[in-house]
Amino acid sequence: MSKPLIIANWKCNPISFSGAKLLFDSVEKGVRNIKNVEVVICPPFHYLPVLNNGGRTSIKLGAQDCFWEEKGAFTGEISPKMLEDLGCQYVIIGHSERRKYFDETDEMINKKIKAALKFHIRPILCVGDKNRKSKEDIKEIAFKLTKDLRGLKKKDLLRLIICYEPIWAISTTKEGIEATPDDAMEGTLYIKKILYKLFGKSADRKIKILYGGSVDSKNIKSFISKAHMDGVLVGAASLKATEFVKLIKNASKI
Ligand code: PGA
Repeated sequence: MSKPLIIANWKCNPISFSGAKLLFDSVEKGVRNIKNVEVVICPPFHYLPVLNNGGRTSIKLGAQDCFWEEKGAFTGEISPKMLEDLGCQYVIIGHSERRKYFDETDEMINKKIKAALKFHIRPILCVGDKNRKSKEDIKEIAFKLTKDLRGLKKKDLLRLIICYEPIWAISTTKEGIEATPDDAMEGTLYIKKILYKLFGKSADRKIKILYGGSVDSKNIKSFISKAHMDGVLVGAASLKATEFVKLIKNASKI
């Protein structure tokens, strides 16, 4: 098994630069000697250059979104080329909050994935179902993935990461119900089936598949060892240094 990939999604937090620096430094110090887990932190854009630290830490940096064009008259956008320049190696694309609050369509997400790959940034594509155990919703994942991955080549799959994030299990949603390892496995198997259909033999084994939704230091072990996930995407629990360090330590003991 490859090293579990633990990705922190800070969303629109913390509100101050000093808070971001303190959080990052505390996590960095806490996990410095852990070698068998890969840690990525995705802060708001403007913290990226200050947290980069000249690449002197083993923690990698990711962004929470990017635009699809390299440059030009696109007010407010950040291009993947700019992210590459900042030493950013990952980018979250198609998070449910972007789909919901900013009306991101699968066509936009598809362009963003292709642009990220072009600039050597690994896209972390998020997909999930809205309602627990709804057959219709699970089918929606197939629909989304087919559009999100349109035109990708088999060789791109090695750099792609997919995160299964059931929307009902995200801690800040109204539902915020904890998903079980069985739920995570069910969603992942479904995603693998679609990948197999879209890209053929062994495609499902090339892509890293993560789980996201209310992951914390207590349930991390079950998602990695019981549900056999390649890693996790962590929101709320990544905003408290002690909790996030504990989560990483627990993942390193599997
Ligand atoms: P959560 O968020 O860990 O707070 O549920 C995960 C996410 O939205 O990426």
